[in-house]
Amino acid sequence: MPHSRISTTSLRQKKSRGERITMLTCYDATFAKLMRSTGVDVLLVGDSLGMVIQGEDTTVPVTLDDMVYHCRAVVRGRGDGQAHVVCDLPFMSYHLSPEQALQSAGRMLQDGRAESVKLEGGTEIAPTIKRLTSSGIPVMGHIGLTPQSIHQLGGWKVQGRSEHAADKLLTDALALEEAGAYAVVLETIPASLASKITNALSIPTIGIGAGANCDGQVLVLYDVLGMSPDFNPKFVKRYANLAQHIQTACSEYCRDVRSGEFPSDEHSH
Ligand code: KIV
Repeated sequence: MPHSRISTTSLRQKKSRGERITMLTCYDATFAKLMRSTGVDVLLVGDSLGMVIQGEDTTVPVTLDDMVYHCRAVVRGRGDGQAHVVCDLPFMSYHLSPEQALQSAGRMLQDGRAESVKLEGGTEIAPTIKRLTSSGIPVMGHIGLTPQSIHQLGGWKVQGRSEHAADKLLTDALALEEAGAYAVVLETIPASLASKITNALSIPTIGIGAGANCDGQVLVLYDVLGMSPDFNPKFVKRYANLAQHIQTACSEYCRDVRSGEFPSDEHSH
C-alpha cells in the first residue's frame, strides 16, 4: 500500500483539520484509472450501479456477486492511486444477522479487494457494525434516504423533516459512531439537520443532498459527468455534458462508416 493512500484514519484527521473530503462513485477500471490524477479521496463502489450500470429502477436487485465483480475492477483500475476504495454491501447481504454481514463483508475485502464496506441503516444496524469493526473491517454508515429501503420509504423523498424524524436521525448517527463506523453518509436530509449531526459527531459526515456543512460530499460519477440528460435532481451539479459528446462522437463514427470515410488509408494496414 503506498504511503500516501487515504485511510480511514486520514479521513478522520481531515475532519479535525477542517479539510473537506471528496468522494465519487466508481464502477469500473477505466474510470478508476482516470480518477487517479483527480485528487479524489474516496471511490465508492456504490450499489447505485444497479440503476446506473444495470438499468434497474432501484438498488434492490443488486447482488453480492455484482458488487464483488465491480469492486475488483475498480481496485485494479485505481492501482497505486491514493483513493480509498469503499464498497456497498447490497440489499439482503447483511440484514439476516451480524454473522451474515461478517461473511459478506469478508468476501468484499478478500475477493473484491475493498478497503472498507458501507451499509445502510441506523440504530438497528449498530450491533452489525460492531461485529464488523471488532473483526477488523472498517465500516461507513449511511442514513437519511437509504435507497435499499425505497419501497418502505415510499419514494425518493427528503428525510428527517419532522422534529421526531430529525431526532431519530441524530440518535442513529450517534449509534453508528458508537458502534465503530469511521464515517457516515447523510443522504437527502435538510442542510440544518446535516449540520447538527456533523457537529455532534467526531467521525466525518459525507453528504449527498445534505447541504454544505457536511465534512465531505459524494455524488454519483455519471451525474457529475452529465451522462443522463433526463436526470436533473436539485442536489446534483453537472461538471460536463458527456452524454452529448458521446452521442456526437458515435453518430460521426456511424456517418463515416456508412459514407466510406472510415477506415481511411491512415487506419488501414
Ligand atoms: O450507491 C451509491 O452510489 C451511494 C451514494 C449515492 C452515497 O450509496
